[in-house]
Parts: sequence; structure tokens; C-alpha cells
Amino acid sequence: MNKFTPTKPAGARSVDEITGSRRLRRMRKADWSRRLVQENRLTVDDLIWPIFLTSGTNVREPIDAMPDVFRLSIDEAVREAERAAKLGIPAIATFPNIEAGRKDEAGSHILDPDNLINAATRAIKAAVPQIGIITDVALDPFTSHGHDGILREGIIVNDETVEQVAAAAVLQAAAGADIIAPSDMMDGRIGAIRDALDANGFQDVAIMSYATKFASAFYGPYREAIGTQGLLKGDKKTYYIDHANSDEAVREAEQDLAEGADMLMVKPGLPYLDIIRRLKDEFAIPTFAYQVSGEYAMIKAAAANGWIDGEKVMLESLLAFKRAGCDGILTYFAPRVAEILKG
Ligand code: PBG
Repeated sequence: MNKFTPTKPAGARSVDEITGSRRLRRMRKADWSRRLVQENRLTVDDLIWPIFLTSGTNVREPIDAMPDVFRLSIDEAVREAERAAKLGIPAIATFPNIEAGRKDEAGSHILDPDNLINAATRAIKAAVPQIGIITDVALDPFTSHGHDGILREGIIVNDETVEQVAAAAVLQAAAGADIIAPSDMMDGRIGAIRDALDANGFQDVAIMSYATKFASAFYGPYREAIGTQGLLKGDKKTYYIDHANSDEAVREAEQDLAEGADMLMVKPGLPYLDIIRRLKDEFAIPTFAYQVSGEYAMIKAAAANGWIDGEKVMLESLLAFKRAGCDGILTYFAPRVAEILKG
């Protein structure tokens, strides 16, 4: 018996008998050792900032369900893009709130080369050429019924929608978009967009596929933001993935990659970390998550009530995406996170 043998009450088992020599807490004992063994890190390079656009000038309209998020006129969006670039955020993603008068059954205003989204891309590209611009080609901001496709006799028609979405992608690329991100979930859209981009000389414009977009209740505040809230009749279950399914998400991603997607996205984010991990393991391709409006709203609401520490939960939720296998995250928290990470 050496002098270091711990004393223990008669009959008690020593901790060493339970753990052997294994002590995971050794590496947790100090800040320096925790930093040394930390497996995942969130950096500003992981952030994509989704912003909302509206017409007019000098407009910053608050969105009730998304505190600290605004609908921005193009001049304001340019200022925010400048701020994002200064913070080191690699890319922004734009979503337009289209005036009611410009919406129709087919979402045809998406084919106007000077619509809000294309005009914003041109303005941002001209002022802030160093930031990446990601644009969505889904029809929902442009349709009078709020669906992502063309509605005919109660059905969202696939092939006609795909043709229109591909044409819209070419216009968005012509305006200066770096990445086309189709969120509509029509079958065959990735291949059609790739072909259309290539045929028009946009071989270098990438496609980030919203490959696994689930039919979800977490999109509510977004619909307030782009003004489709009261318009949407029915739901999107005939084109988004049933949120009970995971194998189907893998098949969807596989098809999109075969059709030419450069990146995959999982949406919503935090409730779907299992999907992120499956896709990353299966395909080893750049994988992104969209921490959607409802996830943002929940964190902001609980924080506003003093029920959680909002900033800590924000950072923890974003790091969880990295741990699950994400290369980056679309998040409304992007500028705040970038400020914090900058110190
Ligand atoms: C639709 C679209 C949605 C979001 C972005 N584009 C979902 C929807 O309204 O059905 C959601 C984004 C968010 O909730 O933050 N193409």
C-alpha cells in the first residue's frame, strides 16, 4: 500500500474500481484543455445570411414574429451587404416580398429581369462585389396562392414549373447571382437549371439544392416576412418531404447530386440534425442547413421572456449544426454571431 492510496469509508467501492484509470474529466478541467480538444468550431466562414427585400427606398420594416429582422429596400440591403462583408460573412441569400399587385397564378413576375430580387442582386454586386449572392428560384413570393409552383386545377404542376424555374435561374445568374438555390422541390429541377445555366454561358454559377426540404410548421414567420401568410391555400405536402421520412431524404439528395447539384441543404435545421449527418456520411459533399424562421422566433421569444440566455442558445444551436456535419448554416442570426465571433 503506497501513501497515495485514497482512504475510503469501510465497504465503499473506490472510484477507481468503477472507472479503472479512465477519467474523461481530465481534459475538461480547464479552459486551455477544453480548447485543445474541442472538435468543432463555429467561425464566421460558416455563415450565410438570409435577408428580406421590399420595394421603395430607405425602408426597414420590422417583422413581428422575427425580432431584429427587417424587410429591406434595395438601398438598405446594399448597406447591410456592406456590413456583412466587413464582418467577413461569405454570402447572403435574398428573399423578396413582392407587392400583391404583381402576383399571379403562375408567378410570372419571376421572369421579369428587373424584378425586386434581380434588381437587388445587381445593386449588391455593384456595391459589394466580394460577397457571394445566393438567390432562390421558388415561385412562392410571386404567386397569388403562395405555392412554390404553378397551380392548375388544384395541382402544382411539376414540369411546367420546372421550365419556369430554370428560366428564372438564368435571369438571376444574368443579374449576378453566384449560387442558385431552388427551394421548390419540383422533380427534375436541378438538371433543368444546370442545363439552362450552361446553355446560357453560366457554367460557373453553382447550385445549392434545397435537396431535403420538409413539409414543416417551422416556416410560419417567413411567410409573414414575404407576405404569403394569408395567401397560402392548403399545404405543401404534395411537393415537400414528409417530416416523418429519412430514407426519402437520402433518395432526394442522391437525385439532386446526379442532376448536378454542387451543394446540399437540409431545411429546417435543428429538428433535422439526423438528416444532416446521414447526408454528410453518405455523400461527403458540401452540406448546409437552414435554421429557419420558426427556429429563430423560438429562440428570440424565449430569450425576450428571460427564459433562456438567447445568445448562448444561438451559439450552441449553430455549433450543433457543425457537429452534425454541416459546412455552413443559413441563419438570421448571422450578423450578430459574426459580431460576437469578431470579439
Ligand atoms: C419557400 C420557402 C420557404 C422558406 C424559404 N423559402 C418555406 C415556405 O414558405 O414554405 C422558409 C424559410 C424560413 O422559414 O426561414 N420556397
